[in-house]
Amino acid sequence: MQGRDGIADEGTDQLEGWRSVAAGWERRRDLFARATAELSERMIELLDPNPGDRVLEVAAGPGETGFKALARIRPGGELISTDGAPEMVEAARRRASELGLTGVRFRVEDAAALSLPDNDVDCVLCRFGIMLVPDMEAAASEIARVLRPGGAAVLAVWAGTSVNPWMTAPGKAATELGHMGQPDHDAPGPFRLSDPERLRAVVASGGLAIETIEDVPVRWVAGSLDEWWETTRDTSRMLTQLTDRLTPGDIAELRMRAELNLAEFVQGDGSVEAPGVARIVLARGV
Ligand SMILES: C[S@@+](CC[C@H](N)C(=O)[O-])C[C@H]1O[C@@H](n2cnc3c(N)ncnc32)[C@H](O)[C@@H]1O
Repeated sequence: MQGRDGIADEGTDQLEGWRSVAAGWERRRDLFARATAELSERMIELLDPNPGDRVLEVAAGPGETGFKALARIRPGGELISTDGAPEMVEAARRRASELGLTGVRFRVEDAAALSLPDNDVDCVLCRFGIMLVPDMEAAASEIARVLRPGGAAVLAVWAGTSVNPWMTAPGKAATELGHMGQPDHDAPGPFRLSDPERLRAVVASGGLAIETIEDVPVRWVAGSLDEWWETTRDTSRMLTQLTDRLTPGDIAELRMRAELNLAEFVQGDGSVEAPGVARIVLARGV
């Protein structure tokens, strides 16, 4: 299905879009991991898994967040690293093998229709995933269903657009240049759960009991604006789909405008350091 701007947004096309950027996510994994290091640590701290626990990661992408839980669940525990895009699951599998990790099972799983039985896991992690699932409430209730009573679910989403300039610069430029309409904040996308009340409502709708919600800083660093642009092109579904239908001249103009939106974060040596803010929810199975 094509959205208003010719950009795929829902259902199967939504996952197809992620399949197409899986290689880019794998290439840019380290930059992403550095930017989100504090966030990942905090997510694992809140999850607080115990030796022997079974941890499910939903929409794991290249798998890094879940891998951080492994040291805490040994001996005997198991990580089930899942994503809806088979290419992402393969990227995570390759990463685990590079790192020599054991105790991880990899599976392709749609967050809105998990194949796990009820009360099957002690903990669930989901970083920057739930807001991308067309039926977010179904994903929340699937997480609640597979989580044992008292088990922890830790989910991360992006806080508002204004505090995440690294991510919003290209979309803002595309809107300014008339290539896209105003973003639809109800469509699957990174900022769909930026409103804390909406976030609470979606998480609670599945039957999870929310304990805490907190904001955590993210710090993006790229060696140059070139690296920022290439990283964004590699990992953003929106930008990939948009640039696929623009002329080279339009793309050059879009890039220039997007870079202007980031100008205040360019350092004296040409590198880019931009702040960002993520939001973490800790909830319990009931
Ligand atoms: C923004 S990436 C985040 C990846 C990883 N969690 C991280 O924080 O680095 C979003 C991930 O959600 C996955 N995803 C999107 N829709 C999904 C769905 N319906 N079910 C499962 N995974 C989905 C994508 O394939 C992609 O790997």
